[in-house]
Amino acid sequence: MHPGDELDVMSPQGTFITRLEDLDGRHLVGIAAGSGITPLMALATAVLERSVTSRFTLVYTNRSRSDVMFLDDLADLKDRYPSRLALHHVLSREQRTAPLLSGRIDEAKLRTMLDVLIRPATVDEWFLCGPFDLVQLCRDTLIDVGVDRTHIRHELFTTGEPGQAPVGSVGRPVIVVPDEPVCHIRFTLDGQSADVDSPASAHETVLNAALRVRADVPYACAGGVCGTCRARLLEGDVRMTENYALEPEELERGYILTCQSHPTTESVVVDYDV
Ligand code: FES
Repeated sequence: MHPGDELDVMSPQGTFITRLEDLDGRHLVGIAAGSGITPLMALATAVLERSVTSRFTLVYTNRSRSDVMFLDDLADLKDRYPSRLALHHVLSREQRTAPLLSGRIDEAKLRTMLDVLIRPATVDEWFLCGPFDLVQLCRDTLIDVGVDRTHIRHELFTTGEPGQAPVGSVGRPVIVVPDEPVCHIRFTLDGQSADVDSPASAHETVLNAALRVRADVPYACAGGVCGTCRARLLEGDVRMTENYALEPEELERGYILTCQSHPTTESVVVDYDV
């Protein structure tokens, strides 16, 4: 790279969003851990700025006070919107005055928080951002207390099988054994189609195979979390290992996460453009 070079970048992706045109009277809740605060900080600020009748409740958990990111910015936000922002710092390894805000968030603590701090019946949308265990705990508990799953959005830090991820933008190499069965994969990206054969013994993903013939196939986490590798399955079938990104409606419409999809038919056709 040199000064003045131009980068071709992808447009923003994902569903960790809300409709900013439609916020009057709405109550949004964010639960974040560690750096999971980053998208929620921006979301809370935008929501509170956009509508004078919106409310935001933020539960933010860290090990100790010194780990809290955006500590001053959060305090400033609270000063700006004292009645519309409820801010709860939970410290897992430091004692706070309120026992509810001290210690790790487990199911019992979360249920108490829902009872006394948040009251789900008053909430329009939920945003969960943190490590897998916390997000799963929050999601399961919210659904258990009656929250509509379509009102819960989440973003995970990471998950996935180590060692299965592509390396850089070239795809993990595979060994081709003569005469062994292969899956023929055809994919379309930016209007151009390409073909690649994936040996059955490689057990590779559609993404990995595609990267072996084109370096610009989109992906980011390679763990089923971000949704960047989403494509629509047009022919054939696949088995998805993990899926933390696609909603049930997207699955019904044939979308797959190519970083998690292993072909189970002789040929597979996917389209990244639709
Ligand atoms: S690259 Fe993130 S879900 Fe596939």
